[in-house]
Amino acid sequence: MKRKILSCMLVLTLCAFCFNSCSGTEKKEGEGQAPSQQPTVTPGEVANTDTLIFPDTDYTEVTETIEIGDGTKQVTYRYYKDICYVANPVDTKYQSMNVKVPIRIDGKDINADKAPILFINSVGGYLSASNSVNDENKNNFTQDIMSKEDNKGTVQNTTDGTNQKRANADELNVNGNYALATGYVVVEPGCRGRDNVDEQGNYYGKAPAAIVDLKAAVRYIRHNDARMPGDANYIISSGVSAGGALSALLAASGDSELYDAYLDEIGAADESDKIYAAACYCPITDLEHADMAYEWMFGSVDYNGKAVDSKISGTLSDAFSEYQTSLNYTGRNNFGAITADNYDVYILDTYLIPAATTYLSDMTKEERDAYLAERPWITWKDGKAKFTFEDYVTYIGRQKNAPAFDSFDLSSGENSLFGDKTTDAKHFTDVGIQNSTADKGNSEIDEELQTIVNMMNPMYFINENNAGCAKYWWIRYGTKDTNTSLPIIVNLDLGLNKIGKTVDTTMYWDAGHGTNQDPAAFIRWIGDITGYK
Ligand code: DHB
Repeated sequence: MKRKILSCMLVLTLCAFCFNSCSGTEKKEGEGQAPSQQPTVTPGEVANTDTLIFPDTDYTEVTETIEIGDGTKQVTYRYYKDICYVANPVDTKYQSMNVKVPIRIDGKDINADKAPILFINSVGGYLSASNSVNDENKNNFTQDIMSKEDNKGTVQNTTDGTNQKRANADELNVNGNYALATGYVVVEPGCRGRDNVDEQGNYYGKAPAAIVDLKAAVRYIRHNDARMPGDANYIISSGVSAGGALSALLAASGDSELYDAYLDEIGAADESDKIYAAACYCPITDLEHADMAYEWMFGSVDYNGKAVDSKISGTLSDAFSEYQTSLNYTGRNNFGAITADNYDVYILDTYLIPAATTYLSDMTKEERDAYLAERPWITWKDGKAKFTFEDYVTYIGRQKNAPAFDSFDLSSGENSLFGDKTTDAKHFTDVGIQNSTADKGNSEIDEELQTIVNMMNPMYFINENNAGCAKYWWIRYGTKDTNTSLPIIVNLDLGLNKIGKTVDTTMYWDAGHGTNQDPAAFIRWIGDITGYK
């Protein structure tokens, strides 16, 4: 327990939440129902008024043939659906989760009581995510997020245009399938997002709602550790893109008191929300510095055949130099201090050359020759790829105009993320607000908004060495993904390394947004870090 309180106090508090919930001020018709979670009461016992009790007998049994690697496994699991994880929900359609508990694999009974729990959020584009069966939003993985009309970035100006497409559902759900087939418990939480709006036109999923909900789901799992299969000490979160960023944030911000008031408001269990590990696939994170890093990397590249605004791009790129120096990060393998001047060499040597080398080594000579003939900027010598960072950047191209995230006309998904109850979109950087074509109000981000920006940024918690930050990290990125820039991904690795965390970071050569090429290795890694066999 994070804060030890008397159980009777908990009961009273939850009664109050229950009362609020039942008064129905926030819940809207058709927006989902609070699932029935009747605590079991033995006659003669005092009724347990804790509404956050895992409904351990309320499941359906599902048998599926799951493809893993070259083979298949037949897995039977208990499927617990639509469990509301807060006592005072705003919208149960989103603040609910599914739980899958494997009980039989290839005909052999297994016991997942002490298994690691893979906690997979399906957020994309910082939009809401729901697990309800008949929900059009079910599993955002299946959508091409970038084609959402309110999410900019639809332009494809890369060599083959593949990097804007999110990988398909099968590819992204693969971790959950592997986990079940290995005997781990899988939790699929929904959460609110920037698109949620009620009948009165009020937004109810703007930042920090999504992370508050995911924390509440973690607290629910811990609250039910004795009753729910899986070991709450071994919660490993996973997510892709905006979901990868939320996975990182969940892991970095464990037990931060910044969220307490929000968690209390929705009736989250009074438990620790620390998690053990995080997998972050192409995390679109560090949003307040993402524009700077994007211009550092892509400033000289045309957007849609035209140069970007050189003054804005230059201002942002200069700001990146200052920011990077202020972080005081050192590279791995005794590289020394990382600065804006040597970051290209660091990224090239540590990630890009090894990724390209692995990719090309796996080819036959004929395939490799054909591949290289089309990409004369790459040379292949003594079994190693060689190229410059500049040529690589020209090859992948830029996907977003400058600034990439805090759009001056407030049109980006990130602007919409930082809106509030009555405002759909806001600026979240000083450069954004100072150059706004849409909002002439302020010259800087105010303190209240800055706190929310911090609450959405894992780097904020990593750089302050938050005591509740997870120990183990898995970071993956496709080298053709231009949804954000490489320093954002590598800074996550370096910041964690600086505070002594164990981080496994790899890039997949020529892979696009959301790619997951080594699910089996990820599942083995979970076994290694948890010691679970
Ligand atoms: C996602 C992609 C983006 O380009 C972005 O800015 C935010 C989120 C996504 O795919 O989740």
